[in-house]
Amino acid sequence: MPAKEIAAPLLAWYDRSHRRLPWRASPGANAADPYRVWLSEIMLQQTTVAAVVPYFEHFTRRWPTVEALAAAEDGDVLAAWAGLGYYARARNLLACARAVASDHGGRFPSNEEALLRLPGIGAYTAAAITAIAYGERAVVVDGNVERVVARLFAVEEPLPGAKPTLRALADTITPTARAGDFAQAMMDLGATVCRPRSPDCLVCPIAESCDGARRGIADLLPQKARK
Ligand code: ADE
Repeated sequence: MPAKEIAAPLLAWYDRSHRRLPWRASPGANAADPYRVWLSEIMLQQTTVAAVVPYFEHFTRRWPTVEALAAAEDGDVLAAWAGLGYYARARNLLACARAVASDHGGRFPSNEEALLRLPGIGAYTAAAITAIAYGERAVVVDGNVERVVARLFAVEEPLPGAKPTLRALADTITPTARAGDFAQAMMDLGATVCRPRSPDCLVCPIAESCDGARRGIADLLPQKARK
């Protein structure tokens, strides 16, 4: 299906209904602060939005820039991280802040390739920063997006084998304009409407294009391979 068939109604929905989260710029703005986008994406790995918000507020008040974080004592950062879990993330966070401060003049790189070379930044985070912080087109695929795409195209192949298929399909619907809003609209749709159980297809802005909804199998997708 043409990229616009999905992007246009999804972005209109995002303009009306997006979640107001502290790391986001207003919809339609070209860019959010890369430091805040990076910090939020690292915190959001394996942690819910609700749990992350107070930590994000605390970190950005205490260390408002990547240089400030790079100069922090390890023990202070690890203590501030306590409760978020997965301490390797906090160690990588500091290593990454220091690399950005020392090797990139305090500015996060704006392309996926350079971002991938930084500690703790994988394919998902590199794409998210490129799209959300810099407004450049990138295909941002997390678990929410995989679910939305599997339903939209009624992909019955189970995860994890379906991952390359789902990424290729996500690529086909990703627009060039408003790349960051599109990525966050997909995440919000997955979190609030296209939920894992009982998706709310009646209020979904792209239900008309959704093969899974049309065939009445949206709630059964994505399939998961038995372990
Ligand atoms: N989960 C991961 N990144 C997110 C973002 N930018 N907005 C909402 N949920 C997210």
